[in-house]
Order: sequence, then structure tokens, then C-alpha cells
Amino acid sequence: MKLAIDQQWLVSEIEALAAFSDAEAPAVTRVVFTPTDLKARAWLKARCQDAGLGVRQDPVGNTFARWSGADAEASVVGTGSHIDAIPNAGKYDGVVGVLGGLEAIRALQRAGFRPRHSIELLVFTSEEPTRFGIGCLGSRMLSGMLSAEAASQLTDKDGATVDEVRRTAGIGGDLKQVALPNGYYKAFVELHIEQGPVLEREQVPFGVVERIAAPASLRVTVEGAGGHAGSVLMPDRRDALCAAAELILALENTARTKSIDTVATVGICDVFPGAINSIPARVLLGIDIRDTDLPRRDSVMRSLEQACRATATSRGVTIHSQVLNADAPAICDPTVIAALCQACEKYGFRFLAMTSRAYHDSLFISQIAPVAMLFIPCRNGYSHRPEEYASPEDIARGSLVLADTLATLAA
Ligand code: GLV
Ligand code: MN
Ligand code: MN
Repeated sequence: MKLAIDQQWLVSEIEALAAFSDAEAPAVTRVVFTPTDLKARAWLKARCQDAGLGVRQDPVGNTFARWSGADAEASVVGTGSHIDAIPNAGKYDGVVGVLGGLEAIRALQRAGFRPRHSIELLVFTSEEPTRFGIGCLGSRMLSGMLSAEAASQLTDKDGATVDEVRRTAGIGGDLKQVALPNGYYKAFVELHIEQGPVLEREQVPFGVVERIAAPASLRVTVEGAGGHAGSVLMPDRRDALCAAAELILALENTARTKSIDTVATVGICDVFPGAINSIPARVLLGIDIRDTDLPRRDSVMRSLEQACRATATSRGVTIHSQVLNADAPAICDPTVIAALCQACEKYGFRFLAMTSRAYHDSLFISQIAPVAMLFIPCRNGYSHRPEEYASPEDIARGSLVLADTLATLAA
């Protein structure tokens, strides 16, 4: 079988999808179920239909595009990623796995391949936590790791529930139906940009992912006392932002002193009332903690709890913390890894065994299916920023190796 990727077509589709954005180019903002996201989804569904794929959408908006295999009863070989993008992001995160996956299927079709197992492209709903505060909404539900009840309680910043938002987006059905049945997948492979600097630095075109680090996120609320910035004397203050600052630095210090694989980020700091001449009365922190080692990740969470207690006492503030998610790491499957390595070797591409420090929907799909991921380089390791860039050659190579791997798995 002679596989050929249409690089120009694939890159033109990445550009076309990037035009569905609420930020000025080259930045991309595409938050789940916004009008812009819905337009992008409609565009993408049409591209899948153009390729002759059967498209269905589940009740949380996960979109499946199926190339039916000769054996309709056989388990499915899946590939895919996400198209939602955090505010002020780039155009490749997730998108390379979706459009690269679509082009891989088209390349297999052009080459005359006939799959025995159906091959499905899956576009996950809300891999990014932007709207509902929790990442991988779609894959959590598909894997049964997030129940329909728990999902329906999630709200966005305006208080709208997942249920209300999806219905406004025209997506109906019972959320209980999202979880996939046991044995649905034979295998799942996700193509993604590395989002880190290793492949570029080592000048190696591929990373074959063996593990995905364990992520956790928390919401911490600090309640102090507001007041006049001129009149309240320093000894009398219970400034919520100063207390939050202490927590932020305590967390940074803990993460720095654990391991190079331990990372902690306070990405949200909302200050109330947010006036220059008013003492902060309340602060909301959004905290992200990750590690390749689960016990060590959990120990950072415990240290944060301790810091919350100590700061509450020393500063006379009230601190409340809520764990939004604390997920286990994923161990990728040796058979799927072998199929990826074999495809790289066939084309003479070097590859590195890697750990993904970013999370991906594959983290959750690994709970119900044999999973592996293929990374391609991205310039300077930039991601989640407008400068994110992957070269057309690297993207096309990724799609080629993916196509070959899907052929092995679906034969
Ligand atoms: C995914 O976007 C992550 O934050 O790892
Ligand atoms: Mn991302
Ligand atoms: Mn991603």
C-alpha cells in the first residue's frame, strides 16, 4: 500500500479552522459551545461527510466520524483529539490530531485500503477546562470517569449548567448515554504537537508517548476583610490578596523542591472587589498541579492544604479549597506503542519514547481502551499561546505515521 498525505490540503484545512476564532489572528480562542465553536464544528462535520464518513454526535457533543470496516461487529480503531482552544491560544493544539486524523483516513481511502475494524475519528468536547473548570469533559464522560449527574452539576462563569449550554447549542439526548460500552475500542491513537521543547531540541521528528502525567486542579477561595485602602491601618488588615500571595509562593516553593517532574501553576487569580483603593476582600485562585508520579502529586496537594491552614491562622482569613479533579496518570499500551514504532521505522523516522506532561483526552480513554500517542515537534515548545507553530512537513509526517498505524490496527 502506497500512502500519500496531501500536505497542502491538510495545512489549508488547519488555516481554515483557525479562522473560526474569537481572537485576532494569529491567536485562536474557541471556547466550547460558543457560536464560534459551533460554526467550527459544523465546518468540520462537513469535511468528514465530504470524506464519506458517517457522522454522529453524542449527548455531550463528542463527534464521531466513522469509516465502516468490513466487519461491522468488530471493535473500533479510534483516533482524534479536540478543536476547542483556550483564550489566546494557537492553531495546532488538538487540531493537528483531528485534521491530521481526517487526512490519515483520506490517505488510507486513496491508497485503496479496506479496514476490517471500523476506523473512527473522534472530536472530543471541551478538552480545555476554560468554560466548565474541568479539562477533558467529553473523554471523562466517554470513559465513565465522570458521571452524567456530576457533569450536569458543572457550571460556567455565568452559572449556566452543562445541560443548559449543550441544549442551547442544539445538542439533546440523555447524558447517561455518553459512556461508551465495554470493549468499544480495539485501540485509540492520538496525534498531537508535543507542547514542549524536547523533539525540536533533539532534532527527532517523533515522540511515542508511554505515559501521561497525573493532573489535578483546585479552586481555592480566600475570604478576608475589605475596606478603605487609605483608612484601614496595616496592623488591622485581613487582606485576602496578601494571604493568597503567600499561598501562591508556598505552592511554587513546594513544587520546586520536589522533582523536575513536579509542576504547579496558579493560572487564575480573581480579586474582589478589584478596585485600586479597596482592600481585597476575597480572592479566587485556580490551581493546576501535575506530576508523573501520583504519590508525589498527591503530596503537593497535601502541602497546599497545610499552607492553607497555616495562612488562615496567621492572617485571620478563611480559606476554602475544593478539588475539581485529581486524576491518575495513563500508562500507554505496548501493542499500540509497537504499532506506532513500527510505522516510524518503516519510513525511517527516528523517535523518542516520551512522557506527556500535558494532559490529553487519551488520559481518560486509556481507562477503557488500549491507547498511545504520537507527538510531533512544535517550535520552541510553545503552546497555549499564539506563537504555537508546527511545520507543514512535521504535520504531514505525523499524519502519515498515524495512517500507517491505523492500517496496522484496523486490518
Ligand atoms: C491541556 O490542554 C493541558 O493543560 O495539559
Ligand atoms: Mn491545550
Ligand atoms: Mn491538546
